[in-house]
Formats: sequence, structure tokens, C-alpha cells
Amino acid sequence: MKKNALACIAGLAGVALAAVAQAGTVRDDGLKPYEVVGDIAIPKPLTDKPGDPANGRKLVANRKKGNCLACHKIEQMKDFLFHGEIGPELTDIASNMPASEMRLRLVNPKIVNPDTIMPAFYRVDGLYRVMKKFQGKPILTAQEIEDVIAFLVTLKAPK
Ligand code: HEC
Repeated sequence: MKKNALACIAGLAGVALAAVAQAGTVRDDGLKPYEVVGDIAIPKPLTDKPGDPANGRKLVANRKKGNCLACHKIEQMKDFLFHGEIGPELTDIASNMPASEMRLRLVNPKIVNPDTIMPAFYRVDGLYRVMKKFQGKPILTAQEIEDVIAFLVTLKAPK
């Protein structure tokens, strides 16, 4: 009887785990789960803690983190002298793009444009030439993604 009860519990646990995996809430790459909607957006924030725009600004400038200025002009960041022009200007991005779409661009822009040269900032597979110490880690953490978005949603060109 005892044995049966144990087997039963183990069986139930198995079913529960399978259900969770199916719902997409368990990942094997250590990243937080997220749902991509319509190949264009990730509506839900990756973390419960709201993003910190001041830290987001730092991450955008940091060459070892976002390094966004390497490719994007942001008028509000003129204090950093250099910026590239490979990507579109982000000075007015908050007027043109909702946070949900910014989130997918940061997490994995290849879903929007398979040929983009913009890096996937929250991904551990499908990256190439990753230095050993960074293998298995995304470029930005889930919280850092939310911090960058909190900054991007402040970017509106003066009208
Ligand atoms: C290596 C260059 C490169 C880097 C680094 C880069 N991007 Fe991009 N980004 C691009 C390009 C190119 C596009 C144009 C769309 C495409 O290629 O799919 C783009 C598009 C975008 C868009 C959509 C803009 C629009 O008007 O449609 C956003 C938002 C964005 N990037 C934000 C960022 C942020 C924030 C960072 C830093 C965390 C960053 N990018 C880093 C190259 C880059």
C-alpha cells in the first residue's frame, strides 16, 4: 500500500512537471520564460521589479553591456561623444514603439528580422564566437533588459 501511494505521488508529480513544461514556464537554459506574441512583441515584463531608467541609461552606454551607442544615435545621450549610425536613431523611439516591442527587439531581434546585425541581448543559444567566460550567460540579465526598456520609454523628441 505504502509503495503504491509513493508511486502515485511520483506519478502525479511527473504529470504536474510535464504540464508546467508544456505551459512554457520551465526552460533548460536558465533564462526566465517569456512569451512572444505575433512575432513582434513580448508584452509581459521579464521581472516583477520595475525597470530602473537611470541604470538603463548606463547600460545603453556601457560598451561591455548594451553598447547601443555603437549602432544607434540617441540625442538625449549627447554627453557620450561617439555614436554609430548602423541602426535607426532612437531619439524618439518612445513615440514610435511600445515597450512590448522594444522588449522583443532586446531579447531576440532575429525573430523580427532574421538578417539583423543587432545582437540578441537575452539569449544563450545560437550565439557565435562567445568568449568562454560569457558562455551560457545572456549579455544582459532579465532585470537589465527591464532597466534598458525603462530608459527607452523616456526617449521622446521635443516637438
Ligand atoms: C551592432 C549594431 C547594433 C547594436 C549594438 C544595437 N542595435 Fe538596435 N538595431 C540595430 C539595427 C541595424 C536595427 C534596425 C532593425 C533591424 O536590423 O532589424 C536596430 C533596431 C533597434 C530598435 C528598433 C528601432 C526602430 O525604429 O524600429 C530598437 C528599439 C533598438 N535597436 C534598440 C537597441 C538597444 C536599446 C541597444 C542596446 C541594448 C541596441 N539596439 C544595440 C543595430 C544595433
